Formats: sequence, C-alpha cells, structure tokens
Amino acid sequence: MSAVLAKAARHLAGRHKIADASAVLAAMPVAVVLLDPENRFRFVNQSAEQLLGISAAGLAQLRLNDLLPPDNPVFLLIEQVRSGEVTVVDHDLNLESPRLNKRGITVQGSPLPEEPGAVVLVMQDASAARALDRQLAFRGAARSVTGMAAILAHEVKNPLSGIRGAAQLLESSVGPADRELAELIRDEADRIRALVDRMEAFGEKPIARTAVNIHRVLEHVRKLAQSGFAAHVRFQEQYDPSLPPVWANRDQLVQVVLNLVKNAAEAVTQAPVKHPEIVLSTGFQHGMRVAIPGSTTRLDLPLFVSVRDNGPGIPDDIRPHLFEPFVTSKNSGSGLGLALVAKIIGDHGGLIEVDSRPGRTEFRLHLPVVTERDADQ
Ligand SMILES: Nc1ncnc2c1ncn2[C@@H]1O[C@H](COP(=O)(O)OP(=O)(O)OP(=O)(O)O)[C@@H](O)[C@H]1O
Ligand SMILES: [Mg+2]
Repeated sequence: MSAVLAKAARHLAGRHKIADASAVLAAMPVAVVLLDPENRFRFVNQSAEQLLGISAAGLAQLRLNDLLPPDNPVFLLIEQVRSGEVTVVDHDLNLESPRLNKRGITVQGSPLPEEPGAVVLVMQDASAARALDRQLAFRGAARSVTGMAAILAHEVKNPLSGIRGAAQLLESSVGPADRELAELIRDEADRIRALVDRMEAFGEKPIARTAVNIHRVLEHVRKLAQSGFAAHVRFQEQYDPSLPPVWANRDQLVQVVLNLVKNAAEAVTQAPVKHPEIVLSTGFQHGMRVAIPGSTTRLDLPLFVSVRDNGPGIPDDIRPHLFEPFVTSKNSGSGLGLALVAKIIGDHGGLIEVDSRPGRTEFRLHLPVVTERDADQ
C-alpha cells in the first residue's frame, strides 16, 4: 500500500471504526495463511481452506509439514522469509503430495514484524489466469477456421453426395472384387461428410439459450457413452444437486461434454490402464470471473463441470496447441473435438481449465448460471 493510501486508511479508521480485519481477510479471493515459527497454522481464510482442501478447524491441528514433503520449494521460501525478514515471491509452485494437488500456484511469503518467526503466506492459483490466456488465443484460431468451414461446407458437400451416389450405383452393378472398391469410396465419402458436418459447427451463429439442467446433460452423455464407446469404462458421478441451471444451449453442451468424455474414454483405452475410470463432477467455485471483451463488465462463472480420467495424460507436444483445430495424436482423430469445445464454451462466455499428468487428466468448464435478467427474457 502506498504511503498516501496508508495515511488515508488511518484517517478513516480514526473516524469510523473500520470493519473487523478477519472479516476482510475471509472475503479475500486469495488464500491467506499465517504460520507460527513451527509452521503450525495459526490463521487461514476461506480461500485458503478451499485451496488446501481442508477446513480451518482441521488445519488448526496441522503443520504445513504434514501437508507437503520437506523438499517442497515452499519451505525454502519460508526459510528465506525467516532469515532475511523480507517478502519473497515464487511463481508456478507445485503443492503436491498425497493430500494435496495444486500446480502453478503463486506464493508470496512475508514476515510478521510483531511475531518473530511467524510467516504470512498469500497463495493464488495462477492456472485460471493461464487458462484465460489460452482461451483468448484460441478465439483467434477459431475465427480463421470459421470462414474456411463455411466454404468447405458449401463447396464440398454437393460434389460429395454426387460421388457417394455414383459409388452406390456402381456397387450394385459390378463384380465382387470391384464392389469392395466401390464400398471404400462410399465409406470415405461418408467420412468426409462427417468431417464437414463437424466443421460447420464453427459457423458464427447466435446461440439460442435456455435454462439447462447440467446434470441431465451429463447423464445423457454418460448413457450414450456407456452404451457405446465407453462400455468398458467405470463412471463415477460426484454431483452437487443444489446447483442452479446454467444459461446455455443444451445441444451444444451435450456436444461439449460428449467430446470431453470421448477423449477421456480414448485416453484410458489407448494406454494399458488397469481400472479405466471417468469421474464426472459438478460444483460451485466462487471467485471465478472473466472480463467480457470490449466492456468493463465482468461475468461471474460460479458453476463448474469437470471430466476427469485416469489415462496417461496429454502428450507434451500437444499441450501448447491443445485447443487448436487439427491438433491430434490419434491415427483416426481429426483434432476438432477440443477446438469445438473451446469455441462453444467461449461463445457461452465460459472458461476451460486443464490439469493433466500421467494418471490424472481433468478438463474443468466454468459456466455462467441463469440470472434474473436472463430468466425475464
Ligand atoms: N483426456 C485426455 N487425455 C489425454 N490426452 C488428451 C485428452 N483429451 C485430449 N487429449 C489430447 O488432445 C488431442 C486433441 O483432442 P481433440 O479432441 O481435439 O482431437 P482428437 O480427439 O484427436 O480427434 P477428434 O476429437 O476430432 O476425434 C488428442 O489427440 C489427445 O492427444
Ligand atoms: Mg477428441
């Protein structure tokens, strides 16, 4: 805080009793933790409980050393704070242990002058900000595909149906050896047709939204998956039944979840996963907001939908281009699934986060819920 601001705050505090400091801390969207000289938790705010996944009462019984292995770089940071009595910031720290799984966390440690040895840690999940970057980068890519999609759809579909019809005619009039070739032409024509259909989805059409029950969407996709491509996979559902409806296009959401579940099923099938599993979950996550491009309004995205699998993880070379069209590691993949997912979620004003390592890949969608204004429309 600048000196001027500090002075103003003192001035105000003198005139009106300023609000209870712990209430202010509790409301902060960043995690704040106070450690005593033995690294016991002396104070945690709500965001810290959320980040660490343990209640304040639970943390009061613990030391940071109970949550993280001794070689975690956060201990080095704490030592630096203690020995130098200075503030130290570290970006992109991974807080990983059997109890905790947080990556890309920015941690700031500061000494507490009144209490020697005590350290205040402020922790912020930077992955949300990164996801936003990627999402915005993607929008450009999607736009360049939009025009191409329209041309492809228009120019390719007609001759394609001609080719298909001709192949079908041939099938009925040629001998068995040539019939196989005619069938091949028909099948390939169908494949191109399916590809063009998917490309068409990139067109810039306004979306028709209604209040959608996200759990019905998830259940629909799960049934589809279990009766077809994911028959061998165990599904787990962890739904928060109190969630309000999302403001969305139901069919597009089905497409989104279907693509994520299909990728997850393909991931656990490709590699030799012993107990292939897909976990579908929903819940509230407060503090998730995005700026609406070109305006000062910010959109709340309090609801999340997550698709998690225990497959081998996203290949390293794919990661930086994950949401771009035609990026695939699969022989028969078109690389359009996630590009479409990102396009649809972007159109809905939502956000996608990805967290992937061997044995655990999660795609998390953040979506807007129905507001009173939407409901009035
Ligand atoms: N759950 C996952 N686990 C591991 N890798 C994944 C997962 N989801 C996506 N990927 C990687 O991202 C790539 C792109 O996925 P995307 O859905 O866009 O295309 P695709 O699945 O290859 O093809 P299509 O969806 O068009 O059939 C995949 O080829 C795969 O390498
Ligand atoms: Mg796919």
